[in-house]
Order: sequence, then structure tokens, then C-alpha cells
Amino acid sequence: MLVPTDTRTAGELSPEDLEEFKRLCGQNLDPSLVPTAHQIEQNIPIYLAEDVGPLALSSKADRQRLMDEFYRCLLHGPGVFAIKGLMARAVAERADEVAQKVTPDEFRSQPQRRLFGFGEKHVCEDPENYAEYYSNPLIALVSEAWLGPAYQVTTSYNSIKRGAPEQAIHRDYHGLKPDYPLTTQVISQMLTLQCAIAHTPQPLEKGPTRFMPFSNHFAKGYIAVKSAEYYEWVSPRMSQMPLEVGDAVFFNPATFHQPGVNPADEHRSMNLFQINSCMSRAMESKNTLKMTKALWPVLQKWAAYCPGFAVLVKSSDRLNGSVSNHNGHGGSCRHPLEIEALIAATSEGYNFPRSFWKQTWEGKDASQTEADIVRRALVEGWDQDRLFLALDEHHELRRP
Ligand SMILES: [Fe+2]
Repeated sequence: MLVPTDTRTAGELSPEDLEEFKRLCGQNLDPSLVPTAHQIEQNIPIYLAEDVGPLALSSKADRQRLMDEFYRCLLHGPGVFAIKGLMARAVAERADEVAQKVTPDEFRSQPQRRLFGFGEKHVCEDPENYAEYYSNPLIALVSEAWLGPAYQVTTSYNSIKRGAPEQAIHRDYHGLKPDYPLTTQVISQMLTLQCAIAHTPQPLEKGPTRFMPFSNHFAKGYIAVKSAEYYEWVSPRMSQMPLEVGDAVFFNPATFHQPGVNPADEHRSMNLFQINSCMSRAMESKNTLKMTKALWPVLQKWAAYCPGFAVLVKSSDRLNGSVSNHNGHGGSCRHPLEIEALIAATSEGYNFPRSFWKQTWEGKDASQTEADIVRRALVEGWDQDRLFLALDEHHELRRP
């Protein structure tokens, strides 16, 4: 049974519910669930990018094994894991400089700076750095593992220093209300993935985010997380780990968590990802057309030096890292899966909703996605004018 009750909504919390919550959160992570993890700290598996990065660009079997492991961790396990060194330090630091640059003047002196829609600003300000950042094959692999293909990436930059208000312990994803069916509350966690990438060092004294491992298993958690009784039990038992620049934490949005207070004068900065299944709604909108156009010159350059990308696109198995060996262009050559990750993070990969009226009665072809058009343009060597025209026409086709 998907939910442990035959009532439609969560209803009132009972004393038995609290006991069940304590039992769930009292579990110890079985190391056999996460065999590739380098270590387990306070019930949170910690991976090293140097271990899992090569697997993300490897054979289909290797990739599948790793995806299964991350999936198990998010669903059956503690609901949270870290990957140390996911992002090259210089790439994360440059992204942080971009965030500083695009911060409106009136926000600069505030103790908390939250830049919604950061990805869009990032690609317009520095498309090269954006490409380095979002072509990360591990972000793509974890997203695919939890959400399947055609996911949508949105990011907001968050920077906190002394004086910023403390956040409550919470779950993510829209703050579901009690009048939603309990099934909706449970399923929503499987259609959303949260990720945070450290842009500045996060020692414990600067308040990196705390997590309550296994709290994702509690069906009534969206109700319980607002209860003082649960708060008091959870707060002293949360796990917290220091992070270095470029480290990432991925978590199931139903895992109770709380960003800590930073008492220092220097900001603690993270880039917060919300990655959504094509079957759920993201909290933020993003202009994929604008972003795709801004990224195009970099994509064009990368693909020109990556003959394997065309092989990958034409193959029947587009996510097999060993389908297309890249070669012959030294350091300038990207792995085809890096280009694929970059397109997936930027362009619309799902072809609904669209206008069936135009397709049926006006004979237009709206079956391709924005991402498909970009892939085709790269493989067939389109120039910018041809691509931009095709993208504009495609967007018109999706409108009612
Ligand atoms: Fe959160």
C-alpha cells in the first residue's frame, strides 16, 4: 500500500504516528545499500566524485548500477547523500562571482541574498562558465536516476551571513497543505529532486544544512514537520556535515532539513537546485528559449570538437557513455554525455503541453522538443539564424 491509511487525507497526528516516526528515523543505514559510497557519516552516505564521476561516463551497465544505488538511497535509504568534489573548485568560484555580479544593488548589503532564476541570469552573464557548471554528468545521472528523462532544472542562489533569519525545519516542494490527498503528498517527493552545491567553504560553525535521515519515509511528514512535538524530537538528532567548495548534497524533498544560522560576517553561499520530473510542476518558471539561445555559441563550439556527440544522438541508446568514444581533439573535446547533460539542464525536454489544434488542423509538426531541435541543429551543423527561427516557430506551436 502506498500510504498507511485508508483515509483520503492525512488527518490528525496520533501518538502512534509519532512512535512510527521515531522508529523510522531511528534506523541505521545498511552499508550494503550504498556499496559505492566512500564512507557513511551520521547515516548520510558520502561519495567521492573521483570514484563515481568516471562511472557516470562509462558503460550502460556501470551507469545503471550507480543510478540504482542513488535511487535506492533516495527512496529506501536516508533520502540524502553527498558527493565530495562534484564541481571543480574554479568553476564553482567563478559561478559565485557571477552571482555577485548579477545581484541587484539594493540586495548587496542584506544578510540573506536569494537570487531566484539564477540559471537564467548565469547563462546570459557567462555562458562558458554556465556550460562548465551544468554539463556535469553526475548532476544529470542523479536527476535521471530519480526522475527519468526530460526533467527540468531550476536553480536559485542563496547566500547567508550574520543577521539572516533562521529557517524552520521543513520539507521542500511547495509546502503541501493538509487538504491534498495523502497519496499526492507521498508521490510528490518522487517527482522532485533537491540538490545544493557549495560555492563557499561550509565548516560546521557556518551552519551548513542539517538533515534528519529517513524522515522521508514518514507519509504524514508534510503535516508533522509543522508540529512542535516533532520539531523538538528532530532538532537535536539531525545530521550535519561540513562541505568544501564544489561539494554537493542531493536529497529527497521529503527529508526534513534545516539550513543553519551563519554567525560569521562572511557569506555562506550555495546554489540550490530544484529538479522536477516532466510530470510535476517546478516551483520556478524559466525561459528555456532565452537560455537556449544564450548558450548556443558554446554548444556549437563544444559539439564541433566532439564527433562522438552525433554518434550518441543517432544511436538508439542515447545515455550509454561508451556508445561514443570521444577522441582526436585533446583537451578541447567534451564527452558526448557532458553535452547531453548541458542540453538537458537548459532546454525543454518534454513536448507537452502543446497545441494539438495546430498540429491536427494546421498540419504543423509539434512532436519534437526544444532539446531535440538543439540536438538536430548540432548534428546537422545549422547556423544560428536557422536554429533561432526553428526555436521561435516551435515555441509558437506550443501556445494555444
Ligand atoms: Fe529546503
